[in-house]
Amino acid sequence: MRYAPPVHIACKGIEMQKILFVCLGNICRSPAAEAIFRNLSPELTTDSAGTSDYHIGDPPYAPMQAAARARGIAMEDLRARQFAAADFLDFDLIVAMDHKNRAAIEALRPVGVVTPVILMAPLAEGAGTSDVPDPYYTRDFDGCLDLLEAAATGLQRDLATWS
Ligand code: 4NP
Repeated sequence: MRYAPPVHIACKGIEMQKILFVCLGNICRSPAAEAIFRNLSPELTTDSAGTSDYHIGDPPYAPMQAAARARGIAMEDLRARQFAAADFLDFDLIVAMDHKNRAAIEALRPVGVVTPVILMAPLAEGAGTSDVPDPYYTRDFDGCLDLLEAAATGLQRDLATWS
């Protein structure tokens, strides 16, 4: 499954230098996505945030850190923060981990700001889901990392074709 054409239309021709990954708590999926993507594209600015205030200031969830470390992904330097409307202005592209978080992000969109908000999972070649399942609940940290790595690779490829 691939994303719908409007994503291409929204992203085509816009220089994507600053990418923000967003989930609910900013301790599992989005910091992992950030850590994976900054390894792939160190020339770009990456960050992550949560739509909730549950874990502000916390490091990534220890089991997620351990699963990531086992495959050479360092994320211990990251700290959770809450998504804010200003992020629409500070970033070129916002990548949401699931539909609920995309809706929470869109609810904060400032009037007249066209920054694209896209879903992460469909960026993965052959992804069978449009949401990244939350490993905080599923406990499948490796499955989450597999999907995020495939999606990050897809995002890197798509950024090259959108520019
Ligand atoms: P995340 O997972 O959105 O991938 O960071 C969660 C982590 C913590 C909670 C929910 C989701 N929580 O409710 O504390």
